[in-house]
Amino acid sequence: MRIGMLTAGGDCPGLNAVIRAVVRTSRAEFDTPVLGFQDGWAGLVYDRAVALYDDEQLDRLLRRGGTVLGTGRLAPETLRESLTEIRATLARHGIDVLIAIGGEGTLTAAAWLQENGVPVVGVPKTIDNDVAATDVTFGFDTAVAIAADAIDRLHTTAESHERVMLVEVMGRHAGWIALHSGLAAGAHMIVIPEVPFDIDAVCKVMKRRFQMGENYGICVVAEGAVPAEGSGMSLGSGGVDEFGHERFTGVAAAMAAEITVRLDRDVRTTVLGHTQRGGTPTARDRVLATRFGVHAARLANSGTHGVFVALRGEEIIPVAIAEASRELKTVPPEMYSEAASLFG
Ligand code: F6P
Repeated sequence: MRIGMLTAGGDCPGLNAVIRAVVRTSRAEFDTPVLGFQDGWAGLVYDRAVALYDDEQLDRLLRRGGTVLGTGRLAPETLRESLTEIRATLARHGIDVLIAIGGEGTLTAAAWLQENGVPVVGVPKTIDNDVAATDVTFGFDTAVAIAADAIDRLHTTAESHERVMLVEVMGRHAGWIALHSGLAAGAHMIVIPEVPFDIDAVCKVMKRRFQMGENYGICVVAEGAVPAEGSGMSLGSGGVDEFGHERFTGVAAAMAAEITVRLDRDVRTTVLGHTQRGGTPTARDRVLATRFGVHAARLANSGTHGVFVALRGEEIIPVAIAEASRELKTVPPEMYSEAASLFG
């Protein structure tokens, strides 16, 4: 038995913890070597193999952010056109099962490969926490901690200058990071992609704060948030990138321009961007990533594939890999309404 492994898509704190756990478990429980492929799917297409050993260096990966295997995206058409090369690489190295660690796009590609005879076990990752069928993905807790810390810090500077502060966090289709960091750090308003916003309603919340004697306001905005139709505001279009992902034009900056005019107040925007994906994972993410790695290794080494590991309650279970791309996990309206009861 030989296991192959790659990380694909955007990086995420905890990827290295999965890599470490897969290698250690494969070695300790099955005496199986693990071969890594660098730079995502490209590593298979262009045969960028690297041996991973259960040594001191690997053991230190637990705390390290990013991915030592490197990562990247590959357009779905390129992947499909490269099936022959992918099969050849796996055969050349005698790989029996591939462990693919990635988000919805990676798991969709993994499902397609599995359908086409390449045995794959998936491990879900994304700071956005929008992969269906798992309670949570590693990376999310770290991103929320980073965003909450940043919002905490903005309170004092916003108050000192009597400003409205808009904080843009990641979250293309799902507002999990915005919701959790906003709640944790006591934001006065939270705007998420699932609930199109009315700029007048945002202004009203901020205006009321000033009327009530407060002298600042903080609104957390997910990058994928959109104005409600007919609400008097629209966003520019940035088109899509080569992978079909929408290029955002800066929703928080656009909102700031509107709020400045409507409230005649000093408004500032902070875009947290990739800081949310950088650095060491939180303890919670290290534990989840490690448990995912142990279970993925056990499945792959026992010849089970076509599944990905998912957290359900306290348990890690295998779920059919096609389930990962069936739907995105978005914030339910009831949960947003809990947060909304604290706005203002
Ligand atoms: O991993 C998901 C994500 O962090 C999104 O929230 C964000 O829009 C995107 O990745 C950014 O990706 P890139 O690294 O390509 O800029």
